[in-house]
This record gives sequence, structure tokens and C-alpha cells, in this order.
Amino acid sequence: MARPRVLSGIQPTADSFHLGNYLGAVRQWVAMQETHDAFYCVVDLHAITVPTEPDALRRRSRVAAAQLFACGLDPEQSTVFVQSHVREHTELAWVLICLTGMGEAARMTQFKDKAAKFGESAASVGLFTYPILQAADILLYQANQVPVGVDQKQHVELTRDLGQRFNHRFGETFTLPEPFIPKEVEKITDLQNPTAKMSKSSSSPAGILDVLEQPGPLRKKVMRAVTDTGSEVLFDEENKPGVSNLLRIQSALTGTPIPDLVARYEGQGYGTFKKDVAEAVVETFAPIRERTEKLLSDEKELDRLLAIGAERASEVARRTMATVRERVGFLPKL
Ligand code: TYM
Repeated sequence: MARPRVLSGIQPTADSFHLGNYLGAVRQWVAMQETHDAFYCVVDLHAITVPTEPDALRRRSRVAAAQLFACGLDPEQSTVFVQSHVREHTELAWVLICLTGMGEAARMTQFKDKAAKFGESAASVGLFTYPILQAADILLYQANQVPVGVDQKQHVELTRDLGQRFNHRFGETFTLPEPFIPKEVEKITDLQNPTAKMSKSSSSPAGILDVLEQPGPLRKKVMRAVTDTGSEVLFDEENKPGVSNLLRIQSALTGTPIPDLVARYEGQGYGTFKKDVAEAVVETFAPIRERTEKLLSDEKELDRLLAIGAERASEVARRTMATVRERVGFLPKL
């Protein structure tokens, strides 16, 4: 039996991944390469939906790829590639754009949030069609599962709707994917604003823990994390969102269930607890940072790995697109 297929993507929009990316997505990617036929891409086409400087984009795409390998993706086991290297992503996106209703696209909450930030008229059409390109990423590889944080759930639902619509109109072509969202890490929150998502674009530097950050600043940020009134370490999302977020982080990083952590810190106040969270973060990130730096010191080798990934991805993408072209009614080119 063929292994189920998994596909996911991450934007090269910052100089480092953050803890939310790591726990909400990349860690699952690493685990799933053992059980799935795995495709993971650095989505540079998505990154240009907001104004992006070319040198920064190039640098961040390599930094993103290096971090993926440093987090444990094995280039033999997983197909790791850069989205723009596989032309079929944009080609399929166009076909899907033509199947998407204006109202349907306008309902995407991430677009609404980002458009509100830039001002609706300043937002690009690319930002509007962003989730449809994401649907193309997923459908192109006939993915069964898409490991993401909860913020991407609506996009995976749109992907299913578009896949189903295509299948209905043109004949069975696409596998309909399921989102894979582990509840405990579906939304890691901002350390300074613990009801909001930790986010590359909207968290303040003090609210975000970057994978490539040095131990000193990481420790400082955890120690300064907002922790609610009272002094007890308790899991209570409603009344203690800050402490609950730290508990979720600590539990995910150490594999200790939250109730065990609560019992361990009973009567101890926040100080010891935060120190332990900081150590868990530093212990996880330091080796990833070191491996990332090593990978980035040999750009040629990194680019070679990405070329291999692109070749493998292209094989699958070309096959799907050949079927799509025929189904839609495009004339074959002799
Ligand atoms: P991006 O680059 O914003 O984030 C990458 C992954 O990290 C997850 N994530 C979080 N999870 C938990 N808590 C958080 N605070 C947190 N912040 C980010 C995201 O849910 C995501 O899984 N649209 C996607 C990229 C994309 C994609 C795809 C994903 C493009 N094509 C195809 C899956 C399949 C995005 O912007 O991710």
C-alpha cells in the first residue's frame, strides 16, 4: 500500500521561524516524514503578496529551507522545495481562481485581517487570491493531510471545496485533503498579548520567540512574559491565558502532560516555572540554530538539495497538471 501523502508550506517572510511555526507545524512535518510520503515547500510566491525586497526574499528563502533541514527534515525522506521552482503552482492556481466565487474569496478571514492592516485598497489582488494559490499547492500533490496551525483551517476547507468543485465539473481529478491540527499546539500565543496568536507580522519582538535567537534574549523574553494576576501555575485559558500558554509550550517541548506540570509547580509561584520554560526553549532551539548556521555556510549545497526537491516535486506536479489541462479542455500542444 502506498503511504498517505502529506503536504505543507511555510512563508519566507521573516529572518527566523518562531515557536508557533515550530510547534504548530514544523515539528509535525518532521514526525510525519516517517509515516507519509512527504512534500514541504517554502512558499515564496505567497511571500510576495505583500511588498517584499528581492534580496530579503532570497535570503529568507534560504534561511527557511536551512531551518527545515535543521529541524530534522531529511532530504532523502522528504521532498523539500521552493514553490516558485515548480511552475505548475501558478498554473493550477489560475484554473482554480476561475472556479472561485468573489464572495467565497472575500470570506477568508486572513485576507480580511491583512487587508484591514494595509487598508483594503492598498492590499494587492495577490493577497486576495492567496488562499487559492494555497489550494493549488495542496491539490497539485494529491495530498491526504495538511499539518498546519488552526489559523490555516479555513484555507484547507476552501481547498476541499475547490477540489470537490473541480471533480464535480470535470471528473474525478483531485484527492480531498484533511487538515491535521493537534489541539494542544494549534495556536501558540504572543508572550506579551496572550490571547493573540504569536505571529511574524503582528507580534512585538518581546512577544515572539525566534528559533534562531540567542539564549540570552530567549530567556529574558520568557521571564518577562505576561503572567496574569495571582501566583499559582494553573491551566485556565479563560482567566490565565498567559500561564496557560507557557504550560502548553512547556508540555509540548518536554513531553510532560499539563496536569503533571501543574502538580510539579504547586506552591512555587511563577519564577521557577518560567525559568524551566526558558530552559526548555533554549535547549530545543540552540541545536537547531547551530545546524541552520552550518547549512547556511554552504549555500551551494543548500541550493543543490533544493534543486533535487524541486525535481521530485515537479514530477508529481507535471502529472497532475497534464490531467487538469486535458480535463479543462486546453488543446494539447503538438
Ligand atoms: P505561515 O508561514 O504563516 O506559517 C507556517 C505554519 O505555522 C503555523 N503557525 C502557527 N501554529 C500555531 N501557533 C502559532 N502562533 C502559529 N503561527 C503560525 C501556521 O498555521 C502554518 O502551518 N498560508 C500558509 C503557508 C502555506 C501553506 C500552503 C500551508 C502556503 N501554501 C499549503 C499548508 C499547505 C502560511 O501563511 O503559513
